[in-house]
Amino acid sequence: DWTPDSFVEETVEAIQEKVGNDKVVLGLSGGVDSTVAAVLLNKAIGKNLYCIFVNNGLLRKNEFQNVLKQYEGMGLNVKGVDASKRFLEALKGIEDPELKRKAIGNAFIEVFDDEAHKLEDVKWLAQGTIYPDVIESVSATGGPSATIKSHHNVGGLPDFMKLKIVEPLRAIFKDEVRRVGATLGIDPELLGRHPFPGPGLGIRILGDITAEKVRMLQEVDAIFIEGLKSWGLYDKVWQAGAMLLPVNSVGVMGDERTYEKCVALRAVESTDGMTADWVNLPYEFLQKTSNDIINKVKGVNRVVYDISSKPPATIEWE
Ligand code: XMP
Repeated sequence: DWTPDSFVEETVEAIQEKVGNDKVVLGLSGGVDSTVAAVLLNKAIGKNLYCIFVNNGLLRKNEFQNVLKQYEGMGLNVKGVDASKRFLEALKGIEDPELKRKAIGNAFIEVFDDEAHKLEDVKWLAQGTIYPDVIESVSATGGPSATIKSHHNVGGLPDFMKLKIVEPLRAIFKDEVRRVGATLGIDPELLGRHPFPGPGLGIRILGDITAEKVRMLQEVDAIFIEGLKSWGLYDKVWQAGAMLLPVNSVGVMGDERTYEKCVALRAVESTDGMTADWVNLPYEFLQKTSNDIINKVKGVNRVVYDISSKPPATIEWE
């Protein structure tokens, strides 16, 4: 029978056998999968694991600093690289969702590769790929869904890195990953985090991306997510986030007419992200959250709630 304890024991042995005394590099994202993979590898090979956590400037509010501290507290050998400016530069003026993904993916590869080259003698690249990623990337090579969205975090590394790949979570599902993480003593709050896409807020800002829009959406998102937590709703939702729309609408503030941005809130139930239903959040919660956002976030005068399911809509708007 599969248990998280036996999985950890067998996987640690398998990693040790596979990589021996070689050095391994791993990209941490702040998400559940890469974190669990890192802790497993750390248990297996300790200081031979070199983790790199890149700030692409599209993370949630304060996420880079907070999560980096958490990683250090877990004893991981981690380097935080703040490349926000580089990503923003690469994204300048790009509006098309797939071109944004490509720009973000390419910038990530460049930054990661620069960092990996600073380490000497690394032989392996570790990834937090889980079973559903494997399935989706297989279908992405030929199936009808091939061109729906290009998920950039599967499919490995650019040729020039020439590293061998180790993927300790390749055969298991998300709920199993969380159980493995719990057995490894990882903070339950980190393990309970909603999925967050690699391109981050970049695919939740419709149209072109600027530092100001990122800042705005980070504030909106923080109010929404903190609200879900304090109302006891966060764990009942599979994924939640806010979208900044490329639409201005007319509002009124005191005696003044405003003409400002609109944000859409989205919360879905799902098991694997392949299909999803919008969540029936309490009206009182939506009312309070909408007021908080409009009162506190300068430049936003309208909030809407997304009541579309997947299919035919997708979870992200881009
Ligand atoms: P969609 O929008 O396709 O999202 O219904 C399904 C799940 O995948 C996440 N997602 C991504 N994750 N890179 C990622 O790492 C991406 O480009 C990407 N696009 C979507 C999304 O957040 C949801 O959990």
